[in-house]
Amino acid sequence: MTSDLRPDAFRLRRRGRFGEPYLYVHECGSTQELLKRPALPEGAVAVAEHQTSGRGRLGRSWEDQAGDSLLCSVLLRPAGGVLPQLSLVAALATAEAVEQLVGRQAQVKWPNDVLLDGRKLGGILLETESIGDRLDAVIIGMGVNLASHPDGTAMPASDLLAATGKRIDPAECVEPLRAAFACWRMAWESSGFAAIREAWRARAVGRGEAVRVRLPTGDVGGLFEDIDAHGALLLMRHDGTRQRISAGDVLFQA
Ligand code: BTN
Repeated sequence: MTSDLRPDAFRLRRRGRFGEPYLYVHECGSTQELLKRPALPEGAVAVAEHQTSGRGRLGRSWEDQAGDSLLCSVLLRPAGGVLPQLSLVAALATAEAVEQLVGRQAQVKWPNDVLLDGRKLGGILLETESIGDRLDAVIIGMGVNLASHPDGTAMPASDLLAATGKRIDPAECVEPLRAAFACWRMAWESSGFAAIREAWRARAVGRGEAVRVRLPTGDVGGLFEDIDAHGALLLMRHDGTRQRISAGDVLFQA
C-alpha cells in the first residue's frame, strides 16, 4: 500500500469518450462557469475564444485578447483529498500538449504554471463544486497564451508566437490537450500519483534552488527541496526547519 491517494477513489461517471460533451463558445464570462451544471458528466470540456471575466488563481483575473489564447476547462468528479495532485496532472498535460504543438520542451513551476524558456505561458485553476459538505465536481481551467501575453506580471510572461514564431490557432490545441490530459489521468488512475510525480519532477523548474513562497500569511524563503507524495512543496527554510506547503506561489529569488 503506497501512501499516495489513488484516484481509484474516483466516482467514475464517465459516459463515452473523455472530452465529451465538448462545449465550444465564441465568448463567455469564464469557461469555468460553463461546466458548473450538475447534469454534466465527468470528462466534459468547455472551450472559448474569449472570456470577459477570466479567472486566475488566488482571486486574480485572467485576461485574453480574442482568439489569442487557449481557454479550456474540464470537469472531473474525483473523491476529496486529491486536489493538489490534480493541479500537477493538469499542468503536466498542458506542458506536454504545448510541446507537441511547438516541438520545444515546456517546463512546469509549482504548483501549476506552465513555462517556456523560463517565462510563464499558461496556468491552471482548480475550482470545486460541493453538494452540502460533499465534493461534487472539480473544474480544472487551463489557459495558454498563444499569440499575446500580459505585461508587468510578477512572473515574466510569454506566448507561443513570441517564443517560437509559430502562430497556433486555439482550435488546434484542443485535441493535443484533451489527449494528454486523458492519458495522464489514466496513468494516475492506474499507477497512482507516483507516475505523475516523476514526470512532473522531470519538467520542474526551481527544484534544489533558493525560492520565496508567497503564502496568505506572507512570504517564506528557503530551498525548494522537492514535492512530496501528495504534490505538496517541501521547503527547507533559512532557519533550518522544514515546511510542507500545499498552496502558494513560488517566486524565484532576485
Ligand atoms: C493562473 O495561472 O492563475 C491560472 C489561470 C487559469 C486560466 C484559465 S483560462 C480557462 C479557465 N477559465 C477561467 O476563467 N480561468 C481558467
